[in-house]
Amino acid sequence: MAIDRFGRNIHYLRISLTDHCNLRCLYCMPEDMTFRPNADLMQDDEILLFTRMFASLGFDKIRLTGGEPTVRANIVDIVRGISSTEGIRSVSMTTNGVLLKKLAQPLADAGLQRVNISIDTLNTEKFKRLTRWGKLPDVWEGILAAEKAGLVPVKLNAVIVKGYNEEDVLDLAALTIEHPWQMRFIEMMPFAGATDIQVNHVITMKQIQDNIESEFGKLEVANDGKMDGEAQVFHIRGAKGDLGFISSVTQPFCSACTRARLTADGKLRLCLLREKEVDLLTPLRAGATMDDLRRLILDGVWGKPWGHGLADGIIPLNRVMSEIGG
Ligand code: 5AD
Ligand code: SF4
Repeated sequence: MAIDRFGRNIHYLRISLTDHCNLRCLYCMPEDMTFRPNADLMQDDEILLFTRMFASLGFDKIRLTGGEPTVRANIVDIVRGISSTEGIRSVSMTTNGVLLKKLAQPLADAGLQRVNISIDTLNTEKFKRLTRWGKLPDVWEGILAAEKAGLVPVKLNAVIVKGYNEEDVLDLAALTIEHPWQMRFIEMMPFAGATDIQVNHVITMKQIQDNIESEFGKLEVANDGKMDGEAQVFHIRGAKGDLGFISSVTQPFCSACTRARLTADGKLRLCLLREKEVDLLTPLRAGATMDDLRRLILDGVWGKPWGHGLADGIIPLNRVMSEIGG
């Protein structure tokens, strides 16, 4: 087991498969983003080797992220390899949904169990403004394809940005009345690359919840009041689906954190919002033994930061969001 010095059992690994993306969401990356050359990224066999290694240390839950994981070549084979790794119980993916129409079924057949799909508004114009390039109908078809392929319960993510989509939370929340989906609202977090908008356009979870309650009435607590991952869950009275609130900035959930991240270039990142990382890919390529690598992982986990420092104004600047994955 991988335990940190605060006694947290770290068993959930988020693997970023690529820093590349087919969108340019303005809270995530600059429009003229330059990506890493493919040779710097973990290759397919390296990803599977790391997966086996983490599984041998008690990691049992994997989420694939990006950038956009579905733009990675061989994504279906990678999912198949990960999901058939001994010890891995759960494989899910965070995606922008653009390519899911085509990929949902093959991914499900390869062992993917669930997806979280980003959708920040139901208005095509605003969607384009937020993602710079995106076409909303592609994402909508992706959501339906995911549901049809059994990647359920479908979870939808919306990052709320003042001046862009704070009014759209009502339409998004209303989706859950007829659809058994979980619509999750995420407080925007600051990173390098887009920090101005991230710092000056934040809407708090309290503001979002108040807005929703003023339209749909008091929300009912769902999931017996327990967190669902990082989300507090509620539902609109009589609705088929749930609402999730992810208040990373105003109400951090660090004490219950069980996760670590592997960046697309093979570094173990211990906290999304802290710069500390342990390079695993360079030692692997330099011929480190499996035991050496396991030791690096266990030592890294032991040194996992307690939590983020946003309240003290500490913003991680060594990477943009798309290089770590959400
Ligand atoms: N703050 C919060 N969430 C973000 N995401 C991207 N950038 C940010 C940010 N600055 C989210 C995406 C997606 C996941 C990959 O991370 O919306 O749901
Ligand atoms: Fe791409 Fe996701 Fe970043 Fe948007 S938030 S640019 S979809 S990685």
